[in-house]
Amino acid sequence: MRNKINIAVLVSGGGTNLQALIDARDTVITSGVIKLVVSNNRTAYALKRAEAAGIKSVCITKAEFGGAAGMEAELVRVLVAEKIDLIVLAGFMSILSAGFTKRFEKRIINIHPSLIPSFCGEGYYGLRVHEAALKKGVKVTGATVHFVNEIPDGGEIIMQKAVRVLDGDTPETLQKRVMRLAEWKILPESVEKVSAGILKQEQQR
Ligand code: GRF
Repeated sequence: MRNKINIAVLVSGGGTNLQALIDARDTVITSGVIKLVVSNNRTAYALKRAEAAGIKSVCITKAEFGGAAGMEAELVRVLVAEKIDLIVLAGFMSILSAGFTKRFEKRIINIHPSLIPSFCGEGYYGLRVHEAALKKGVKVTGATVHFVNEIPDGGEIIMQKAVRVLDGDTPETLQKRVMRLAEWKILPESVEKVSAGILKQEQQR
């Protein structure tokens, strides 16, 4: 009986959430191993973080695989070849098809920088989320980790953490605080929770 599942982290950009996962290896995350990092962007700094941590990485771009469908087909091929059990979207800026989310049902999780159901769904990504929160004047925002289904930001919620909005916040200052106080904490914790759940399911079989 194995004691760790295989995790793939999908990224597109800076990869601070990937870094939080790397830093949580063997401390918070004990039920899984980060086996693979996949980027859909060749210049993502996240790829450098993977390399520095000794984690295998691959780049799968729409341009190189003839569009979204080709990219997804290659993604599935790689995930299956690497025997991946859990897919973590950590700033992955590409919407996955309903077919893909169905194939990996309850095996894909995403981090979103607001308290879902506020400021989420299509068009709410990156700084736009924080701009919308400031425009609305909310006093509390935060981050959510959720399972991914065919509805953008619509799957079952796994963990949330609230963060105060402060007077004078800009989208940039708010984004940084939400990352530091919420995202980098609940993403590793959620990965552990889901990984432990998958192991438990296997042991009961
Ligand atoms: C984070 O704000 C995350 O919530 C969102 O995309 C951003 C990724 O940042 N889904 P990073 O690449 O992890 O630094």
